[in-house]
Amino acid sequence: MATDFTESNAADAVIASFADTPDPRLRNVLTSLVRHLHDFVRDVELTSAEWEKAIEFLTAVGHMCDDKRQEFILLSDVLGVSMLVETLNARGPEAVTASTVLGPFHVVESPARRLGDSIDLLGDGPPCVVEGRVVSLDGTPLPGAQLDVWQANDQGFYDVQQPDVQPLGNGRGLFTADSEGRFRFRTVLPSHYPIPTDGPVGQLLNETNRHPYRPAHIHIIVSADGHAPVVTHVFVADSPYIESDAVFAVKRSLIHEFREVSDPDEAERYGVTAPFRLANVDLVLEPES
Ligand code: BEZ
Ligand code: FE
Repeated sequence: MATDFTESNAADAVIASFADTPDPRLRNVLTSLVRHLHDFVRDVELTSAEWEKAIEFLTAVGHMCDDKRQEFILLSDVLGVSMLVETLNARGPEAVTASTVLGPFHVVESPARRLGDSIDLLGDGPPCVVEGRVVSLDGTPLPGAQLDVWQANDQGFYDVQQPDVQPLGNGRGLFTADSEGRFRFRTVLPSHYPIPTDGPVGQLLNETNRHPYRPAHIHIIVSADGHAPVVTHVFVADSPYIESDAVFAVKRSLIHEFREVSDPDEAERYGVTAPFRLANVDLVLEPES
């Protein structure tokens, strides 16, 4: 005899319907999802109108997605889910460089550049140098480590957002560390910038009085033979929004001083003009087991 679907047995009935799922991981994930989803609906006593609005919202998120724009990832970012997944999948030793979100702007392969080259192809904006070393967990240098670097310009835009203003590849570079694991590149000081707000995620931020800004940062994917690659950011310590990143991606260990240097001789040694900003960033990778 059929049992009535009630508030108290609803979740159990749905979970039982998945009992024959052959993949045990999929069965566990679906069981937990249904349990939490039903708890949530009961907890807030969701109305039919609210459910309809939620469906409309998710539909709008889907409509905003194509091969260049991923509104679902943006939604996951502003809900802190991207960073949560990132954090619980990188439970390595504390000394290893922390990972953070990839973001939507790693869309083209970065052009290969030589150590010391500038990733700024336009020559406007405050000059800046980033240098450091890539080492293994025990401090051994990692010669030949690769650094895939990308950043917004000093106005807060990535090259792909301004195809008529910036040449493709501006703010991007693929560097290979030297025989001592050292790297160095010139750039412009990146600016804080808003995440895309012209879609439903922007509306959500607006309706909830949340700002859309990310603090100034440089993205780096670091990789070396025999080591786990790390997707990370170098955050500029004195940037606005360093305490309130819209996507929750700041970790203390990733905040770096970009020291102002006014000595013209030091500037000349780095191939820039004074004053400029100088950041020293050591990157630590964990050997693959
Ligand atoms: C970024 O840093 O490029 C980014 C990350 C998450 C959402 C939007 C932008
Ligand atoms: Fe970014």
